[in-house]
Amino acid sequence: MERTLCIIKPDAIRKKVEGNIIQMILDAGFKIIALKLIRLTNERAMSFYEIHKDKPFFKGLINFMTSGPVIVIALSKENAVEDFRNLIGATDPLKANNGTIRKLFATDVQENAVHGSDSIENGIREVSFFFDESEIID
Ligand code: CMP
Repeated sequence: MERTLCIIKPDAIRKKVEGNIIQMILDAGFKIIALKLIRLTNERAMSFYEIHKDKPFFKGLINFMTSGPVIVIALSKENAVEDFRNLIGATDPLKANNGTIRKLFATDVQENAVHGSDSIENGIREVSFFFDESEIID
């Protein structure tokens, strides 16, 4: 089974749609193997998004991701990474397909409701960024 990391972002929690998002994830056949509600510190957010540190949107992204609680969820499924990216839709909700989580719940390209790992390697790395193996119920 492949692993992928989902983050339900502060905008989705402010809109109170985290329940809808989790239901869509379960209906799509993903298994939740770990889950927690946390508040990211500046340091943790910067470390998680380090790959984007030179992008013009980095500062805004860190401000946004630390603006309220997030729900981090480790997911397991065959082909989890690709299937989850299809479920959430394009980064920019204007480009996301109908029926995707971002089309339904995102505000804009920054406040886009959810994060999903973009490769199998990042799925493994990002799950272990937030969860010890002992916290995962596989
Ligand atoms: P995510 O999938 O979490 O990965 C990086 C995040 O940076 C992305 O979702 C958005 O929240 C944000 N992001 C990506 N591109 C842009 C952009 N052009 N402008 C603002 N924020 C962006």
